[in-house]
Amino acid sequence: MTPTQEWTLPTRRLGRRVLVFDRVESTNDVAAALAEDGLAVLADEQTRGRGQYGRTWQAAPRSSVLLSVLLFPPPPLRRPALLTAWATVAVCTTVRELIGTSARIKWPNDVLLRERKVCGILLETADSPNGPQCVVGIGLNLSQTAADFAAGGLPQATSLGQFRSEPLDTHEVARHLLRRLDDDYHRLCRGDSATLEANWRHHLDLLGQLVRAECADGDRYGRLVGLSLEGVELERPGATRLRLQPEQVKHLDPVVPPS
Ligand code: BTN
Repeated sequence: MTPTQEWTLPTRRLGRRVLVFDRVESTNDVAAALAEDGLAVLADEQTRGRGQYGRTWQAAPRSSVLLSVLLFPPPPLRRPALLTAWATVAVCTTVRELIGTSARIKWPNDVLLRERKVCGILLETADSPNGPQCVVGIGLNLSQTAADFAAGGLPQATSLGQFRSEPLDTHEVARHLLRRLDDDYHRLCRGDSATLEANWRHHLDLLGQLVRAECADGDRYGRLVGLSLEGVELERPGATRLRLQPEQVKHLDPVVPPS
């Protein structure tokens, strides 16, 4: 398979080589096979795009950014929770810069605009001969209309195009996003995870709320009193506290008390 374009972005690590395809099965698969740290793969269309939990991810040609980045993270960054936070925050920053509206992260890896999903992220890790690798796949909706989503059975989805009048170009948005991802990854590589943590907390927008933490061994309820990449802290009745590892928490959602 031959890319139709190859870009070299003036970044530090991510996107110094970007392979651009008209059509692939899944950008995640192309990236996973290429053993090059920071390589990005962008496609106008996917024929077997994957979502979380084995779902398919479908998008009409050039309606979305379909982007995967291959990383061989240094040991302190080899944590899915941290890499997911990194990718979701970079998407939120990009969204704000493009449409001037603040996006929210829905734990763990969705980005919402006005409570509708605008972006999904799929992180896939594997052991490779070059060490542990991680492919971060991003599907960011750009030009679909509400009618397109309704026809596809996705009434809870939205696109950036629904928030601005001028059209957005998938390639331009991908370059923009790659620069954000690269800046934020560079900061992490220098040992600054506090900036990411603060931005992640801000975009999750759950601190102080009553939440339900869905874990493999059952649900936990409480007021969210602490949130960092090291722990999710819930205050429970009787002022007892429960601390969970982010990796333990499959979903974290606000609970609306019955009226
Ligand atoms: C989700 O279920 O929300 C995650 C969707 C991830 C979709 C992206 S599109 C680019 C990359 N290639 C894939 O096959 N999936 C991810």
